[in-house]
Amino acid sequence: MGSKAEHGPIRPARADILLASVGERGVLCDFYDENASDIFRDLAADAGGTEEAHGFSALIRPESGAVLELGAGTGRLTIPLLELGWEVTALELSAAMLATLRQRLADAPADLRDRCTVVPGDMTAFALGKRFGTAVLSPSTIDLLDDVDRPGLYSSVREHLEPGGRFLVGMANPDASGRQEPLERTQEFTGRSGRRYVLHAKVYPSEEIRDVTIHPADESLDPFVICVNRFRVITPDQIARELEQAGFDVVARTPLPGVRNHELVLEAQLSGRPS
Ligand SMILES: C[S@@+](CC[C@H](N)C(=O)[O-])C[C@H]1O[C@@H](n2cnc3c(N)ncnc32)[C@H](O)[C@@H]1O
Repeated sequence: MGSKAEHGPIRPARADILLASVGERGVLCDFYDENASDIFRDLAADAGGTEEAHGFSALIRPESGAVLELGAGTGRLTIPLLELGWEVTALELSAAMLATLRQRLADAPADLRDRCTVVPGDMTAFALGKRFGTAVLSPSTIDLLDDVDRPGLYSSVREHLEPGGRFLVGMANPDASGRQEPLERTQEFTGRSGRRYVLHAKVYPSEEIRDVTIHPADESLDPFVICVNRFRVITPDQIARELEQAGFDVVARTPLPGVRNHELVLEAQLSGRPS
């Protein structure tokens, strides 16, 4: 557990250029690590959680019991799922994200806090010693995993679902956005504090990855924190195929309400077939 975090951040070309220009003031970090946490909070990264939690909640059968949420982050979905009455086990790899989630729970009413179990862990290899009726993965999370890591996610989830249990996988729906994503884009935006940031995203089609770099617009800052994140460019069709190969039946694709409005949930049910 934790090995992924120890690999350190990836180095997109954009980050290299920035690091060369800011010299020793430059701090390169993964978007979910401790160095990025101030920026993460400033970016209103919990937007849309309530709407998405309602979307997921509508797909969870009332009798299915506790929900396993993978890559729970700072609780953007966890807190609203608890508010909707679910019992949630929230698994997360990043110590910084876990610290924020634990603080949010400590500040929450006891009734919510008591229904949440927080587990440090790697979603591609975990063993919790219990089964759940439902496992949930928020959008923009499965695409953080490499091709070689996703089978570990599927088999770990399979081992933690009750018979007939459901794996709800949130993903971008490329058909819903109605436009082709440009290969490269740069965009400035404002955080909660009023501070300006620059986001740069670049798709490498042959490698099927999208590198995202976020940094303050003010390049004189010290330290100058450069947050990086790498997403795999994968479609719902591809994930549906992988789930079927891993012993799930993909029974539905449902649009997910939320701020982005171009996301869906793949509803995968444990099949009776041996995988
Ligand atoms: C896009 S964020 C989503 C967080 C949260 N579910 C939400 O909706 O805001 C992805 C989360 O997955 C976590 N993560 C990435 N790889 C992971 C792994 N192998 N195991 C567990 N968590 C992981 C990241 O640290 C991050 O908190």
